[in-house]
Amino acid sequence: MNHTVLNEGIKLPDAFPVILYLLVSLSVSPVVFSDEVLPESIALSLQPDLRHEPIQPLRQAEGLNPHKISLGERLFHDLRLGRDNDMACSSCHNIKDNGADHYAHAPGRDGTTLDVNTLTVFNSSLNHRQFWDGHARNLEDQIDTVVANTKEFATTWPTIIGKLKQDTGYVHSFTEIYPAGITADNIRNAIATFGRSLRTINSPFDRFLLGDADAISPAAKVGYRLFKTYGCVACHQGSNVGGNLFVKLGVFKDYFALRRNPTRADLGRFNVTGKARDRHVFRVPSLRLAALTPPYFHDGSVTTLAEAVSIMAEHQLGRTIPGQDILYIVAFLESLPGEYRGQPLGYKP
Ligand code: HEC
Ligand code: HEC
Repeated sequence: MNHTVLNEGIKLPDAFPVILYLLVSLSVSPVVFSDEVLPESIALSLQPDLRHEPIQPLRQAEGLNPHKISLGERLFHDLRLGRDNDMACSSCHNIKDNGADHYAHAPGRDGTTLDVNTLTVFNSSLNHRQFWDGHARNLEDQIDTVVANTKEFATTWPTIIGKLKQDTGYVHSFTEIYPAGITADNIRNAIATFGRSLRTINSPFDRFLLGDADAISPAAKVGYRLFKTYGCVACHQGSNVGGNLFVKLGVFKDYFALRRNPTRADLGRFNVTGKARDRHVFRVPSLRLAALTPPYFHDGSVTTLAEAVSIMAEHQLGRTIPGQDILYIVAFLESLPGEYRGQPLGYKP
């Protein structure tokens, strides 16, 4: 596990449970159930004590200016941000669905495809860095990369500002909120504020954590226990069930030798730091919406959640886990997506 790089920004109280799990969980044998009828003693022990759970409920973001949120939402959907007035953030991040798309690699400008699978924008402000390789520190920096990327907006801030200034509606809304009016900083701030408001609260699993024992199925309860005892939680934890560690993909087994056709993006964090120990290191993704965001992994190469779980067990934990346990874990992952603006997430025609 020496490839696990704790981020320097993590405070000890955050990092401590992670280290504890890395040391303890990985050596503990999982409890294996053969069917969904649990002995009463085990059923009772599945009631969580919130204070000690490695996964915490999501909460609504607080203290955000509602005017900035709605301005940011408008910008997020505005095709004029793209070079040829043809691409918006929402072109790849569908808020009515899962905050991402369903491509392995989203189509980019001029017949290109993007280098990595699209991440969801929901709950992303909880991640300690943005992107698979963590190359943006926060939501504001993240927007700069989209503006400059030749496969995405492929433009410059002065061009975007020029276009928005011709829209009297924007001029009015910006000057009401920001004394300096339409500037790159203020556009970034509005979009990032909208981004911070994107939380998926009130999931069945969070209701279970908060004391509603019937909010999730018996299978999901077993799945949660297995997620902890197998050691998935060593990397995927916190309220976003991931998003706060950098870890090598392929701790126990070479993922890329099997997949073939290596790409630059496969080098992960190495592309940011240039350090040999960061080859194939990625930010652990959040699993909050994993059930809704196939295909999986940075390369988008895996279609089903069950297959992703099985690959994780082999490559990150060095073990093969029985098919029934994979189904329990999938049932747990399916209990994690919550609601946005009072509606459950997922595709709505
Ligand atoms: C052409 C498709 C496309 C467009 C347009 C696009 N994105 Fe993305 N977005 C992606 C892909 C692909 C990733 C993953 C990239 C990576 O990790 O290197 C991503 C990642 C992100 C992330 C990081 C999430 C995380 O967990 O780290 C955020 C936030 C985000 N996009 C917001 C935006 C915003 C805001 C805009 C508009 C300014 C935008 N995106 C435009 C495809 C797109
Ligand atoms: C040692 C750390 C580690 C452990 C342990 C671990 N994971 Fe992961 N997980 C990762 C990393 C890193 C990725 C991203 C890999 C990539 O695509 O580059 C990931 C990706 C995933 C994904 C794909 C998410 C997506 O949106 O594409 C799923 C699902 C997943 N893990 C589930 C699990 C399950 C279930 C377990 C336990 C059986 C587990 N993980 C154990 C580090 C870990």
